[in-house]
Amino acid sequence: MLSSPPTDLQELYGRGHRLCPTANAALQLVLSTEREIDLYELEQLCDAVGWSRRPMRRVRKALQHSLLVVGLWRHDARLPKLVGFARCTGDGVIEATVWDVAVHPLYQGAGLGRQLMVYVLDLLREMQVERVSLFADPGVVAFYGAQGWQLEPRNRRCAFWYSP
Ligand SMILES: CC(C)(COP(=O)(O)OP(=O)(O)OC[C@H]1O[C@@H](n2cnc3c(N)ncnc32)[C@H](O)[C@@H]1OP(=O)(O)O)[C@@H](O)C(=O)NCCC(=O)NCCS
Repeated sequence: MLSSPPTDLQELYGRGHRLCPTANAALQLVLSTEREIDLYELEQLCDAVGWSRRPMRRVRKALQHSLLVVGLWRHDARLPKLVGFARCTGDGVIEATVWDVAVHPLYQGAGLGRQLMVYVLDLLREMQVERVSLFADPGVVAFYGAQGWQLEPRNRRCAFWYSP
């Protein structure tokens, strides 16, 4: 059987990429674990959401040691732009923890953060990870709660997702 030729998107974002539907049909937003993250772009994204800077060599190492590194890209055939990010650490079998979930302020409120989390959980589910945890910033707890994460009852910042 002949396999179909790779599309542009596949070349740029890898086979496992996922398109994010948005209200703006002119905008193509793509989730990918395969496209390499430019650390300067990641730093700009973190600046944009107001996080304090971390030394780049440490961030590089953290990404290398992560179980999953997800970029959300505004598609451009020549220069895709990183507009969202999340990563997970873990053993890849039983436990994982989600870190550094961010969507650039210009792209927030369009359902992308939720789609980013669905993508992350779908990938962890494929690995058959049984339990996923995260530590939510105080103003974001409800974002995770609304997506079915179980909030730790005492301080409600620690949230869990269990594989069904
Ligand atoms: C939190 C964040 C990732 C959400 O991304 P987003 O693309 O704006 O989220 P979505 O548009 O997918 O929102 C999905 C739903 O969550 C709600 N939501 C978004 N941010 C929220 C927040 N901070 N608190 C409560 N609910 C929130 C939305 O209103 C929406 O609700 P709806 O389904 O009723 O319409 C984004 O605001 C962000 O990057 N914030 C700065 C960095 C940060 O705090 N990251 C989290 C660290 S724990």
